[in-house]
Amino acid sequence: MNTHDPFYITTPIYYVNDVPHIGHAYTTVAADVLARYWRLRGRDVFFLTGLDEHGQKVQQAAAKAGVDPQAHCDRLAPQFTDLWQRLNISHSAFIRTTNKPHQAVVQRYLQQLYDKQLIYKAEYTGWYCTYDERFWTEKDVVGGLCPDCKRPIEQLSEHNYFFKMGQYQERLQRHILDHPDFIRPESRRNEVLGFLQTQKLGDLSISRPTSRLSWGIELPFDQNYVTYVWFDALVNYISALEYLPQGRPAGLRYWPADVHLVGKDILTTHAVYWSTMLMALEQPLPKTIFAHGWWTVDGEKMSKSRGNVVDPNKMVDQFGTDAFRYFLLREVPFGQDGDFSHSALITTVNAKLANGIGNLLSRTLTMIERSCAGVIPERGPAVLPELEQRIEALAQHLPGSIEAGFNALQFRDVLLMIEELNGYCDEYIDKSAPWKLAKQPEAQTQLHTVLNISARALRLLALMLYPFMPSAAAEMLRQLGLSIDFSRPLAADAGRWDAPLAGRTIQKGAALFPRIESKPQGAKPVSDTPASPQPVAAAPTAAPAAPQSPAPAAVAAAAPVTSQPAQITIDEFMKIQLKAAKVLAAERMPKSEKLLKLQVSLGAEQRQIVAGIGKKYEPDALIGKTIVIVANLKPAKLMGIESQGMVLAAGDSEVRGLATFVEDVEPGTKVK
Ligand code: MSP
Repeated sequence: MNTHDPFYITTPIYYVNDVPHIGHAYTTVAADVLARYWRLRGRDVFFLTGLDEHGQKVQQAAAKAGVDPQAHCDRLAPQFTDLWQRLNISHSAFIRTTNKPHQAVVQRYLQQLYDKQLIYKAEYTGWYCTYDERFWTEKDVVGGLCPDCKRPIEQLSEHNYFFKMGQYQERLQRHILDHPDFIRPESRRNEVLGFLQTQKLGDLSISRPTSRLSWGIELPFDQNYVTYVWFDALVNYISALEYLPQGRPAGLRYWPADVHLVGKDILTTHAVYWSTMLMALEQPLPKTIFAHGWWTVDGEKMSKSRGNVVDPNKMVDQFGTDAFRYFLLREVPFGQDGDFSHSALITTVNAKLANGIGNLLSRTLTMIERSCAGVIPERGPAVLPELEQRIEALAQHLPGSIEAGFNALQFRDVLLMIEELNGYCDEYIDKSAPWKLAKQPEAQTQLHTVLNISARALRLLALMLYPFMPSAAAEMLRQLGLSIDFSRPLAADAGRWDAPLAGRTIQKGAALFPRIESKPQGAKPVSDTPASPQPVAAAPTAAPAAPQSPAPAAVAAAAPVTSQPAQITIDEFMKIQLKAAKVLAAERMPKSEKLLKLQVSLGAEQRQIVAGIGKKYEPDALIGKTIVIVANLKPAKLMGIESQGMVLAAGDSEVRGLATFVEDVEPGTKVK
């Protein structure tokens, strides 16, 4: 690949028979991530999406709404364009098949094929599915139902125009065999090949009589017919290039497409219909048609009748654009089916974003702010050479691996690599304990090393995350005191580990990804943030907790208030998740004698806990201690600071002692 090569990526054009759902968002976000990645790499990206406005489905939806089809399309189109704006989709052009120039291209192509006698008229009798707008042969139909959508179908006999698709069977087979990347993933390629090797490819009916369907593009050689919606729709990938790349080199500079992203259900129309149409039009075939899987919702097929259609707008409202984008591509390997649930989304946001990248940024910047007057320090001598080398080696290796991941369209793999670097940095910080170094005057240069390396890694993480989470990446860089113009290709050396960084003044801001604390509206119970368990013995001793907070979540001592506490069952007790936690940092809360703010490690994750133990302990005395926390307590704010758990301590109104362990126990170990 030459980084100046054009890169043409498309999504399917969506039917305007209804509002957009998660399936539409999925493909469009995936295309956007690719487009953003290759733009940053300097390629001339043309990213096309749009709407499929003709055909029976749209005509029927318009009739149902009591408006004419064009008015219906005009009414629904903004639902898509508004959503793309909210999802931060950076498409280069938006095509609507009712655009006049598109219609002209479709007619021109139809005429060309007709003139070359690749389109002919014939009578056809077959089983017709109105919903899918296609004929099926006798052997496809079982029990009078469409083999695809399982709706009743009818026998129809009519004159129609046919495209001589069948004659390209062998050539198409050869093309697929010679071009391993043409249909992806491989399992789908094998499916299409299997079909072409075992069944005879027929000709394709490409017209509908206007008596049956009026909402379509008229055949240039017979006004009694409109063209089949797929012939019209597929042509969009080329017609758009004639009139939409405004201000850019138009024409076929971008053709053949690098990637057509489609859902698995429309692979045949792309791999077989479109490919043979292109052969007939003497155009090169797209380089890759990638079929992704489908989302189910809470294990069920998504459908209007089940009432479980996921509205991407609601996801953006609840979780934010970046988090939703991240989840869509992190949850399932691209190409496979996946299941959507609120709890899965919340788990990803909390575990990977709030506790992952957000926490790394916040702890690094907090330390730079406190110990280095907000200026990123120069790197000093090695502190933990093995871990430092591991971070550096991964960081240097990552750009290449990420490029390979993008070439393979394996978004999840790319995100896992990014998370790995994040994880290495967390471990490095946990083990080097910069908060301890900060207290030792002779260890200042070591402290600088830790903070410099963390900041360096964060800069790279932001660059790598940009295609997935454009706003969060820009905000990370802003907080690091950097500004990168993402609308231009990155400089060739931008991804270098040793790019200059020291001396930048950071601008610590709000948490990048606040933990999702409560069950969002309409969501199912959430696995990693269950409702607050009943306290075993709840006497919150952290008295100065924010008065508006009905039940302070983080308290120091858990002692019975009454002499005869209510009994609980073992099941009730088992709901409470106790864990060993290592105190990484501790500080007093301003204006409070009692409250301490602790940063504790649970091994894989870090938590912040506000505890009412300040009268008994000096913060420094707690650092390094392994204590017991309630790990599944619903987070709450104490004096405006979030507490993500509760510390166990002995005592009644006064704290007598923290619960700790006789032996060394790994942070994160369950306590029973
Ligand atoms: N108009 C045609 C495409 C023409 S392309 C030249 C069409 N439109 S559609 O609106 O019905 O579907 C668009 C896309 O949504 C398809 O790629 C389809 O796979 C995808 N999805 C529909 N439901 C989906 C899920 N539940 N999950 C993931 N994608 C799904 O087909």
